[in-house]
Amino acid sequence: MSVFTSKENITDLLERGIGNTPLLKLQSLFARLNMHVYAKMEMGNPSGSVKDRSATRILLEAIHNGEINSESTIIESSSGNMGIALARLCKLLQLPSYIVVDPYINQHAKKLLRSYGANLVEVTERDKNQGYLGNRLKKVQELLDTVPNSYWTNQYGNPNVCIAHQRIFQEILEQLGAAPDYMLVATSTCGTLRGIADAIEMSSSPTKLIAVDAEGSILFENQPKARHIPGMGASHPSAFLRRYQIDRYTLVSDYEAIQGCQIIQEHEGMLIGGSSGALIAALHKLKDYIPANASVALLFPDSGERYLDTIYNDLWIQQISEKVMA
Ligand SMILES: Cc1ncc(COP(=O)(O)O)c(C=O)c1O
Repeated sequence: MSVFTSKENITDLLERGIGNTPLLKLQSLFARLNMHVYAKMEMGNPSGSVKDRSATRILLEAIHNGEINSESTIIESSSGNMGIALARLCKLLQLPSYIVVDPYINQHAKKLLRSYGANLVEVTERDKNQGYLGNRLKKVQELLDTVPNSYWTNQYGNPNVCIAHQRIFQEILEQLGAAPDYMLVATSTCGTLRGIADAIEMSSSPTKLIAVDAEGSILFENQPKARHIPGMGASHPSAFLRRYQIDRYTLVSDYEAIQGCQIIQEHEGMLIGGSSGALIAALHKLKDYIPANASVALLFPDSGERYLDTIYNDLWIQQISEKVMA
């Protein structure tokens, strides 16, 4: 029986287990730096990343206003996590999904997508900014034109993305009992950053928001180059970014992000994803900017288990450094 026959249960079905993720104090690493650092562990969401929050909100809104029904096919472009979150929800809703990916995606993410029954469409040509996003979006348009009853969730511009992510900051306020002095967020669509920025504004919190982007991304500086860590950076401008909402941005190289992951594994015994590692690298770069005893919240979007064949694989690290040197 289609879940659409009992609409009141859809909200419960989709929202189950989303959010209220743990906030963990990183004890050993930052004591020496005289900072109180907390990581919001978004890998605790059902599909393993922060994107469960936005995917759920987008689908529920579209179902409630009639844009998605039991005949719909869901289309999205994704570096991995958004696709996995949507594919899981589509499985619950018994809807087909097409996820447009590119060669940055890792094999593990592809396996997860397939396990949820998603149709994978891979774009292989780089766009003019050395990334794939421009071409992924062209492919999305092609699918919308050809697949009947298709609906694009549009994680790059759907306002529900930002609304969903406001909750992250509200949870941190509740968990800490106070606003953190600083918050670091990795950027790609900038939807997470924007939601948190809006929540900081709405709660009149003194928190300074710092965006952490990949070297070679065009979000903050126009110096495009190839990048290898999925999830971070963009080769296309963000519709969500409001520069006045952030205190500053910090750029992190692929290698620095990998080092950040290794440091956390060594000192905290945790496997974190590449963009989480980038936050650790950024925090080290900012250690003379952030005052002693400051409280700092980091958003860890996903876990390192997704990157065992890449970030935690010496051979892959060697291969990407050879490509950079070539
Ligand atoms: C692992 C990871 N980190 C960071 C981000 C960036 O989030 P946003 O797209 O909201 O800027 C993403 C987005 O896909 C991601 O998958």
